[in-house]
Amino acid sequence: MDRTQIENILAEFRRNVNAVQATGLGQAIGPAYPAFLGRCLSMMSGNTGQEDEVLTAYLSEFPTETTLAERKLLFSFFLNYWEGSRHVLEVGPFLGGTSRAIAMGMLHSPNRHDGTRLHTYDRFREYYGADQLLATPAPMFEAGILNDEVREVIRENSSFKEVYELLHRGHDYSDLIEAHIGVLPDDPDQPGDPADAFALPEDREYSAVFVDGAKSWFGTKRFMSLALAHTRPGSYYIFQDYGAHTCFWIPVFLELLKEHFQLVTYVDHTYVYQQLDEVSPGAVAAVFPDSPLELSVADFRRIFRDLYDTALEYDNTYTLLNYQLQHAAALAYLGHLDEARDRIVALLKTPHALRHRQWILNALRTPTYRPDGNINFF
Ligand SMILES: C[S@@+](CC[C@H](N)C(=O)[O-])C[C@H]1O[C@@H](n2cnc3c(N)ncnc32)[C@H](O)[C@@H]1O
Repeated sequence: MDRTQIENILAEFRRNVNAVQATGLGQAIGPAYPAFLGRCLSMMSGNTGQEDEVLTAYLSEFPTETTLAERKLLFSFFLNYWEGSRHVLEVGPFLGGTSRAIAMGMLHSPNRHDGTRLHTYDRFREYYGADQLLATPAPMFEAGILNDEVREVIRENSSFKEVYELLHRGHDYSDLIEAHIGVLPDDPDQPGDPADAFALPEDREYSAVFVDGAKSWFGTKRFMSLALAHTRPGSYYIFQDYGAHTCFWIPVFLELLKEHFQLVTYVDHTYVYQQLDEVSPGAVAAVFPDSPLELSVADFRRIFRDLYDTALEYDNTYTLLNYQLQHAAALAYLGHLDEARDRIVALLKTPHALRHRQWILNALRTPTYRPDGNINFF
C-alpha cells in the first residue's frame, strides 16, 4: 500500500468516526469510546500527511503548556463538532498556543457563522516575569517569527496582553480572536480592581468553553458559575487541567455536578464534557463550597472512590493514577501531609502507576498549591 492510499484510508476513517459521533451512537459503543474518539481527533489533521505536517508545525510555534495531541484535539474538535452560531470562550490562553488551535478549527469549520468569535480571557500578568517571558519564546526570536518590536513590548509591559495580540496579528484566523483582561479571584474576599475582574457581557452566548486559567478551587467555582449562565444544554466544556495532578478541584467539581455533564472525549490531560441541562449558580453553590476546607477527609474519600470506579469502568489506568495523585493533593491541601505523602510513595510500588513514574515524582515534589503558593512535603 502506498502513502496516498494510507492517507485516504485515514481520512475516510476520520469521516466515518465523525459521522458516528454526529448520530450520537458513539456512546453506545461503551465506556472505551471517549478515549477512542480523543485518539481519532488528535491523529492526522487534514487530509494528507503533508497537510498534517504543515498544521502540526503551525500549532507548535508558540511556547505552550499543552501537548501536541491536546492542540490537535482542539483543532479537530472545533473544526468538526462546534455548532458555530454561538461564540467560544477561553480562559487562560497564556501566549495562545491553545487559542491558535481553537481559532484555526473555527476558521475552517463549515458551521461557523459570521460574527462568532473566540473571546479569550486571562489576567495577562503575574504568570511569568519579563526575563522568563523573553526566555520562553527564544526559539521564535531566533527563527525570526518574533521581531524586536515584540522584544520591546515584553520589556516595557508588565502585562503580556500586548505580546499576545502581536503574536496573533496578521494570521488568517486573527479576526476571530478578541482578547480581554479578566482576573478570577482565588477566594471570595480577594481584593482587586473591579475593572479587571473576570466578567462576561450579559447578552453574549457561548457554545464551547475552554478552561485553562481556573488555577484555584474558588476561581473554578466563580468561573463555572459565570460561564454556565451564558451556555445552554448541549454546549461543550473543555478542561485542560482535568488530568493535572495538582488541580484536584476540576474533577471534584465535575464529580459533584455529574448529573449535569457528560464526558464526550479526552486525550492526555484535556477532557471534553457536554452540558446536559441548565445549571444555575445556586445548583453549583449547593454542592461545591467556597473552599475545599469545607469538605472532610471522608467527603474526599467518597468523591475519589466514585472517580476511581469511573476510571476502572473506562479501563484507563492513566486516569486512575491521576485521580490517585489528585486524592493525595486534596489531603495535602487539607493539611494531612503524612497520609498524602504515603499515598504517593505507595504508587511508586504499584504496577499500573509505575509506567508514569515521572508524574509520581512530580507529585512528591509539589502535590498541589494553594493561592499563597506550593505545598511541600519536605
Ligand atoms: C497554564 S497557562 C495556560 C497555557 C495555555 N493555554 C497554552 O496554550 O499553553 C495558565 C494561564 O492562566 C492564567 N491565569 C492564572 N490564574 C489566573 C486568574 N486567577 N485569572 C485569570 N487568569 C489566570 C495565567 O496568566 C496563564 O496565562
